[in-house]
Amino acid sequence: VRDRLGARTIVLVGMMGCGKSSVGRLLAARLKLPFVDADTEIELAANLTIQEIFARHGEPYFRAGEHRVIARLLGQGPQVLATGGGAFMNPETRKLIAESGISVWLKADFETLFERVSRRANRPLLQTPDPAGVLKRLMALRDPVYAQADVAVDSRNVPHEQVVSDVVSAL
Ligand code: S3P
Repeated sequence: VRDRLGARTIVLVGMMGCGKSSVGRLLAARLKLPFVDADTEIELAANLTIQEIFARHGEPYFRAGEHRVIARLLGQGPQVLATGGGAFMNPETRKLIAESGISVWLKADFETLFERVSRRANRPLLQTPDPAGVLKRLMALRDPVYAQADVAVDSRNVPHEQVVSDVVSAL
């Protein structure tokens, strides 16, 4: 797999709660590649949490920073990159990913995602009176775009280790 990858980065995309960070970490260990998490890098660059960035500066500011951080990370050679759920929605970001990465969509169903995101109240977009409704609407909007990824892997009710094996076979 590493030979076929060349200098390309494996970019995990998909909804909040689909397992991008957990699967990404395991996948990187399996392939002996570095792992980077775009959300963590954004927090480091801003010296604020994602929630603080949304609260203080708003979503457009976060999205601009997210694009810059992903552009920088994609130039770093072969690695596994977990992106935030909204990153792949930006056409400019998608273009960069297509140029220097292989995108992998971790697909999951609403129930799996909602159960996972409900464990931690750290997603500003879901801090609303109707998080289930928002999650459903985001899925309807985003799934057709995630479907443009190079590879899609089912992550619903599948242990992370199995998802990692499925990604490796699909690459
Ligand atoms: C977002 C997903 C989050 C984070 C931010 C916005 C989104 O990342 O980037 O809260 O728009 O779906 P995760 O997908 O890692 O939760």
